[in-house]
Amino acid sequence: MTFDSPILAPSLLAADFTKLGDEIQACLDSEIRWLHCDIMDGKFVPNISYGPFVVEAIRRAAPETFLDVHLMIENPDAFVEPFADAGANLISVHQETCPHLHRTIQHIKNQGCLSGVVINPATPVDTLYPIFEDVDLVLVMSVNPGFGGQSFIESSLKKIYKLNEIRKQTQMEFLIQVDGGVNRENCTQLVRKGADVLVAGSSVFKQESISEAIQGLRSKMNAGRADLV
Ligand code: DX5
Ligand code: ZN
Repeated sequence: MTFDSPILAPSLLAADFTKLGDEIQACLDSEIRWLHCDIMDGKFVPNISYGPFVVEAIRRAAPETFLDVHLMIENPDAFVEPFADAGANLISVHQETCPHLHRTIQHIKNQGCLSGVVINPATPVDTLYPIFEDVDLVLVMSVNPGFGGQSFIESSLKKIYKLNEIRKQTQMEFLIQVDGGVNRENCTQLVRKGADVLVAGSSVFKQESISEAIQGLRSKMNAGRADLV
């Protein structure tokens, strides 16, 4: 997969759930084509979010939109099928929760979804070498997962750069996604280092205008693509 411009993927965790449909529609009106769903179980991460039932509702509110489901849960294998059935296009799992990562990735593919692997801030890129050729996306967590609204961890930039170098050297095609603390100040730099998909929660939904927030982020992201290193 390659795209002409970097992708902005709003994280619905930061949306106002009393008007989720309206907030999704505001994203679609601003030409958002990719939404990020954060699934937390209160075990792998210290928070609980929502499950397949809500993802299915999101799918109904956005029938044509690419839905990326980020599983921050123990034993993700048990939930691959329910989220695929709910309408996920891509399911990503944490390297830290998968003792049989290769099998889990195959399981995701067998459900007809694209697959992603995620690394926490303290997990090195090198650990992913054996799985690069099997995944469609690598997600670099730039905060410790569990909550929206945290500050971006600067060392994530090095990981993005390294992943992009590996991708160039090996001619593999996985997408590079970044999640956590993405905002107008850092998004140009993230794209410049090689990120293709930026997840943004607070910097989209906790703003006065969702559409202005999206336009602002998008123009800064496009500036980064212009001088990709
Ligand atoms: C954190 C989640 C993120 C989070 C991003 O565990 O994976 O997707 O919602 O929120 P912001 O953009 O506010 O850091
Ligand atoms: Zn996420």
